[in-house]
Amino acid sequence: MGIHADLLRRHREVIPNWVGLYYDQPISLAEGSGRHVMDAEGNRYLDFFGGILVTMVGHAVPEVVDAIKAQAEQMLHSSTLYLIEAQIELAERIAELSGIPDAKVFFVNSGSEANDTALMLATCYRSSNQVLAIRGSYHGKSHSAMAVTGNAAWSGTSFSPFQVTYVHGGYKLRSPFGHLPDEEFTARCVDDLRDLLDIAVAGVPAALIAEPIQGVGGFVTPPDGFFGALKDVLDQRGTLFISDEVQTGWGRTGDNFWGYQAHGVTPDLLTFAKGLGNGMAIGGVVGRRAIMDSYPANALSTFGGNPLATSAALASLDVLEDHDLQSNAHKRGAQLRSGLDHLAHDIAEIVEVRGKGLMLGVELADPATRRPDTVRTARIMEEAKSEGLLIGKGGLYGNVLRIAPPLSVTEAECDEGLAMLDAAVRRATGA
Ligand SMILES: Cc1ncc(COP(=O)(O)O)c(C=O)c1O
Repeated sequence: MGIHADLLRRHREVIPNWVGLYYDQPISLAEGSGRHVMDAEGNRYLDFFGGILVTMVGHAVPEVVDAIKAQAEQMLHSSTLYLIEAQIELAERIAELSGIPDAKVFFVNSGSEANDTALMLATCYRSSNQVLAIRGSYHGKSHSAMAVTGNAAWSGTSFSPFQVTYVHGGYKLRSPFGHLPDEEFTARCVDDLRDLLDIAVAGVPAALIAEPIQGVGGFVTPPDGFFGALKDVLDQRGTLFISDEVQTGWGRTGDNFWGYQAHGVTPDLLTFAKGLGNGMAIGGVVGRRAIMDSYPANALSTFGGNPLATSAALASLDVLEDHDLQSNAHKRGAQLRSGLDHLAHDIAEIVEVRGKGLMLGVELADPATRRPDTVRTARIMEEAKSEGLLIGKGGLYGNVLRIAPPLSVTEAECDEGLAMLDAAVRRATGA
């Protein structure tokens, strides 16, 4: 029995069966360098998914590795009961980067916890347990994050700490308003939000939580300005806006440092995680001081903002800024986009290419009926793997390829990845 087969057998014995694995024959990634990884059986891949958009600056980047080693030798843990210099410095930097005036930051260990904290703050601040969320959203695996996840495949319980109302998002391809030009489409979604506020909620909902580009939802990308138009209505009612930037943050969308910046708004609260630690577990909330300070009891996070994770995050941010990786995301994103558009031109089953920067989605469906093509999407994933390319998938029906390499990806690697994807798609579609 091979290494992977043996690991899979053991995995199935002890890990719950709702933890999904990619591929008919799942693999274990044993080593990484730059944008490449090696599996436990010695196969090398170009990594265009970065462990779900976490590997932000690359695998085994010396500056990040050195920062982790140096901190590990000094002090691994102290807790939020003590002052932590790296945590304070990171909070100062994120408060500044957030674009939220006079902001404060609270660190946790994951995106789910970050959203959980933001929802707790917003509902306390507004004294309301009503929350608006977007259809097709994914906000995490904690009980409260699942409660605002508008995707039944990822939200397996109807128990909820909130009263949640789902509003229309920017998924034009499958929206009843999708045939309209962008401005009219947005206007219809705003009308619908107004209707819902009159019909479906009592008083003022605490917050709307939204991903500027939906991640798990399949890189669903609303027209620019979409959330600004929704926020105008929310502002009239006093409902807060929480931007879940767990996937869209740190310059990944190329045009902007945060996804919200495409919409002409400033969020009241912003949540982050994934790329910041480049693999170390870290997440957090940054928001307006009045909201951040409003929680009326004690709280701590034993591991949140720990010395190891915050040192890794500072080093990752340094690499990001020193190499202007946001600009790289913009340029390499344009290169990948043009290759994918070219492929879509030839392949009828690709019904949409969408996204921004290094967050690109390819939706597969029957060209005539638009019925989601989940099977072919899985086939392409397999073919890409056998070409030596790791990509992700998502979408409400598991029919969207997700392409999201580290922000340090090079021009040559994008060419190489496109060639592999081209071959995989053509084989899987018989084109
Ligand atoms: C937009 C978004 N929010 C929150 C989360 C939850 O993050 P975590 O898995 O770190 O809890 C995810 C995870 O994929 C996400 O994509």
